[in-house]
Amino acid sequence: MGEASELRSDESADGSSNLPRAIMKLISQGAEAKLYQDKKLLIKDRTKKSYRIKEIDDKLRGRRTRREAKILSKLRNFGLAVPKLYGCDDAQKITMDFIPGDRLSEVLDKKDWKKICKEIGEKIGLMHNNHIIHGDLTTSNMILHKDVYFIDFGLSYESFKVEDMAVDLHILKQALESKHWKIWEKGFDTVVKGYLGKAEQGKEVMERLVTVEKRGRYKQKAKKSI
Ligand SMILES: Nc1ncnc2c1ncn2[C@@H]1O[C@H](COP(=O)(O)OP(=O)(O)OP(=O)(O)O)[C@@H](O)[C@H]1O
Ligand SMILES: [Mg+2]
Repeated sequence: MGEASELRSDESADGSSNLPRAIMKLISQGAEAKLYQDKKLLIKDRTKKSYRIKEIDDKLRGRRTRREAKILSKLRNFGLAVPKLYGCDDAQKITMDFIPGDRLSEVLDKKDWKKICKEIGEKIGLMHNNHIIHGDLTTSNMILHKDVYFIDFGLSYESFKVEDMAVDLHILKQALESKHWKIWEKGFDTVVKGYLGKAEQGKEVMERLVTVEKRGRYKQKAKKSI
């Protein structure tokens, strides 16, 4: 996360922003977006990328922004803990609830990780039952605020495929392994327990995960032998 700083929204460096005239705190500058906090609100602003061809950049930012807004409101209707959406005013900015709390990537190992991992699994199960694939399930995209809140739905999409669900879990498994190496094995087992308890197609998804991982290993081996 970038260092917190303050700016007036009409002073954005590339001039691409026309956020409301208010003092907002820049809380994060990720690969894709700048994130500002304005009291209880969070504004995610997907700024222009000059290294991309303009037409492609506009399209990509627009698609991810609309997708994120659509999926956020769907999931909230399904009862999942995600920030409430207030608006998606053009093809670039989303306003949602600011969720106070710690990013799970920073605290999981120190907290009651078994309980949290079970909850994560159950919530992914609920998401998949509603045919939504997160697309970037890492603990940086989860905030602990009493419950676990999921954020960052820019890569999410709707799918009925067991394969897509298995890949979603595979991404989480890799994220746990790299970021939470002390607890990842038991942590992921607990995620799976929670997932199987909720996901309607849980068994098929877990079987597919085995295939997905075999394929991954095969690809890695092939790469090494080139
Ligand atoms: N609704 C929210 N409430 C509180 N904090 C948030 C919220 N949304 C995002 N954040 C904070 O901003 C960070 C980046 O947000 P997000 O993951 O949506 O954007 P990103 O472009 O993917 O950034 P990155 O490349 O860093 O992952 C999050 O990890 C989190 O710390
Ligand atoms: Mg993110």
